Amino acid sequence: MEELLRMEHITKQFGSVYANRDINLDVRRGEVHTLLGENGAGKSTLMNVLFGLYQPTAGKIYLNGESVKIASPAEAVKKGIGMVHQHFMLVEAMTVLENIILGDRRTTGLFIDKDARRKEILELAERYGLDVELDKPVTEIAVGAQQRVEILKALYRGAELLVLDEPTAALTDIETEGLFAIIEKLKSENKSVIFISHKMREVMKISDRVTVLRAGQTVCTLDCRGTDSCQLANLMIGRDLAPSRYEKIEKPGAPVMELTHVSFHKSSKHNGLNDVSLTVGRGEIVGIAGVDGNGQSQLAQIVTGVLTPEEGVVDLKGSTVARFTPNGFILENVSHIPEDRNKMGLIGNMSVQDNLVLKSTEEARFSDGHGLHLKKKAIHDYALGMQEKYDIRCESVDQECRNLSGGNQQKVILARELEGDPDLLVAVHPTRGLDIGATRYVHDSMIDARAHGCGVLLISADFDEVLEVSDRIIVMFEGQIMGVYSGKNPPIEEIGLAMAGK
Ligand SMILES: Nc1ncnc2c1ncn2[C@@H]1O[C@H](COP(=O)(O)OP(=O)(O)OP(=O)(O)O)[C@@H](O)[C@H]1O
Ligand SMILES: [Mg+2]
Repeated sequence: MEELLRMEHITKQFGSVYANRDINLDVRRGEVHTLLGENGAGKSTLMNVLFGLYQPTAGKIYLNGESVKIASPAEAVKKGIGMVHQHFMLVEAMTVLENIILGDRRTTGLFIDKDARRKEILELAERYGLDVELDKPVTEIAVGAQQRVEILKALYRGAELLVLDEPTAALTDIETEGLFAIIEKLKSENKSVIFISHKMREVMKISDRVTVLRAGQTVCTLDCRGTDSCQLANLMIGRDLAPSRYEKIEKPGAPVMELTHVSFHKSSKHNGLNDVSLTVGRGEIVGIAGVDGNGQSQLAQIVTGVLTPEEGVVDLKGSTVARFTPNGFILENVSHIPEDRNKMGLIGNMSVQDNLVLKSTEEARFSDGHGLHLKKKAIHDYALGMQEKYDIRCESVDQECRNLSGGNQQKVILARELEGDPDLLVAVHPTRGLDIGATRYVHDSMIDARAHGCGVLLISADFDEVLEVSDRIIVMFEGQIMGVYSGKNPPIEEIGLAMAGK
């Protein structure tokens, strides 16, 4: 196969940090090339260099054998490179159509023939089986749909090489299959895809070749057919990771959180709860399984005080909740690993250390007691301890959170939420975007919290994860509970059917 892209000896430094150090990567026409590496290994940085968002500190890029300089994303697009970022970059105030047209190189002057564009875009969408609603504002469409818009936008601009940075992290299984069909179609047209994912099963399924990065350096490039997920995982983390087995608890302690006939937007199939009753006991992990968008978000928001149920009763540690406020729940020692870490979990332009103490600034050890005069040294020392304990990889705890790799941002949330010895932990997709080692760390931490008597409500679209750590499994479908199963030898097929509403 013909070579399309070669990146040679790419180094990218941020201050004293080498995000990329002497990386080599070559991508052929018509291949799916996966970048694999732990959180912070340098995958997104390398792709941002390719897309002209960063200039490399050293190294060269060749396209079709010719040395090129990619000074900006506009230039990358001109050269046939498209990129769907780890965190989407759509303009929220605009419609889908406007977002796709925006910045297109043919858009010169004031006059844009929207109808002609619409027709072209619809044809393109049809060709790739991309289902999009062009006139909806971007804010009103689901994550999976936003991603299809990003892909369509890249294809509309004529991408020959499409970079997909963790495209499946927030997709349901069905959406992922849809994405893979699109990738296959691109391949059949001799286009190339650089794919990034932490999910081994996907990597093995879709890739032709895999390049493994570790700590900013290339480890090797392998033909996917000649390797397996175990070998890849070991290459990635540089050591063997033994398979995990967690013991299942059968007799939980007293209830920490109890929902009795709780409803919210009852008639909404995807964004409501219909007569939900469930209990989370001390020292047990209750896993909610189900396809995303069957009421899980609303459940998480009710048990963290963000939403007030319309019907039913919520008891927390034996007392009925009268007022639902996030702060009230925090004071009751309820911790929350939120679904969307960018919107709810972290304040990106605040430092790692400030994010770590975000909920504890009124504690005497960190301030004068009112959160007014902060004890800077105490906070700094505490943050250093957390950095070590939770293996948060960053240059310094004074660094802004938004510059951390996705997985390391999640570790900051985890450190903050788990440190206070919570009575209840509500963990929503807690390992989304995390590498294998970090995922193991999160699971171990939940098991640890359980051992300390914490009740854990795990909400996850990753069925394997629910199976692995839950003591009890509850299946949700269209806002209702379809079944409750013991975590010890659960009937997997039956659960699968329940997840589909059968
Ligand atoms: N703008 C920046 N300023 C400072 N450091 C940065 C910046 N961007 C990235 N880094 C650092 O470079 C390293 C590589 O980050 P990168 O985002 O490329 O990792 P990644 O492999 O994409 O990880 P993940 O799987 O978590 O997304 C990290 O240590 C990160 O903190
Ligand atoms: Mg990344």
